[in-house]
Amino acid sequence: MSVFNAIVSNTIDYVPSNIVSIFAKKYIAGASLEDALNLTKSFNQNGVMSTIDVLGEDVKKIEEANFYKNECIKVLEEIKANHLDANLSLKPTQMGFALNKNLGFQNIREIVKRAYELNNFVRIDMENSPYTTDTIEMYKQLRKEFGQHVGTVLQAYLRRTINDIDYLSDDKMNIRLCKGIYIEPEKIAYKNREIIVENYKYCLEELFKKKAYVGIATHDEKLVFYAMKLIKEYNLNTNEYEFQMLLGVGENLKQFILDSKHRLRIYVPFGKQWLAYAKRRLKENPNLIKTALNLA
Ligand code: FDA
Repeated sequence: MSVFNAIVSNTIDYVPSNIVSIFAKKYIAGASLEDALNLTKSFNQNGVMSTIDVLGEDVKKIEEANFYKNECIKVLEEIKANHLDANLSLKPTQMGFALNKNLGFQNIREIVKRAYELNNFVRIDMENSPYTTDTIEMYKQLRKEFGQHVGTVLQAYLRRTINDIDYLSDDKMNIRLCKGIYIEPEKIAYKNREIIVENYKYCLEELFKKKAYVGIATHDEKLVFYAMKLIKEYNLNTNEYEFQMLLGVGENLKQFILDSKHRLRIYVPFGKQWLAYAKRRLKENPNLIKTALNLA
């Protein structure tokens, strides 16, 4: 890591929010649901799907969890009302999972049930490792009840992931595969970037072998090329997988994916709780600050 990047990563938590917002704008649709819906409309016009995320995580009160549950249901209802090609992503701790597992589960179940009624889909994001097992179990249970209306995420940096794929494979899985963004201990997570990439490839092929629907979530060009090669080898139709990327990241790669006739879904976060999300993105990629300051 360069000195500049190390300084950004270590100090970003102390930077005032109005300064962070200058660099964070391109990652977030805006403060309101309307912002996310308008952006999705423009994506849809260009053949791009979205997954809408109400920003907020690790809630401290039951009322907050209930608030986010209602917001998520509103997102699903507005997607339907506006005839958009979009679904919903949510985080277990946003639904109160860390306060009370059962409360978190019931909130998420209610949202997935609404998605089922509206013929839409909910992706349960994967947070840090204390929640991995419970998230996988919750997904398994909801999958049994609501079929293809729910999916989850697996992280290639976790040593357990290849076994989780095996564990989930008795059912048709719907998995977003990503590298993983949280800081995890070496005992449970690979730290070497090359090994993470190799494990991503290994897990992706296992998922294809097991006929999973995969959201290939990466901005890593080489991984995108690898995935495209595998898609050909496995003779997949374009509706049997999708590429996924974050709002504001990798614009040229997005265009390449679309030009190559693959489907692309963009993660569209919105809401007032944008600060934690923005800081995580900036910590992960301090070069963005260089780009914004024209230092790159
Ligand atoms: P890598 O980090 O190697 O980046 C490849 C290139 O992309 C870099 O060279 C850089 O230029 C660019 N890039 C990557 N990230 C960037 C950023 N934030 N800003 C600017 N440029 C960036 N993680 C998790 O733990 N749980 C989850 O549920 C999800 N969900 C999720 C959904 C979607 C749609 C995506 C795309 C990603 C996630 N992630 C996630 C995050 C994921 O785990 C990972 O941290 C990032 O995608 C970065 O990894 P890449 O594979 O993109 O490669």
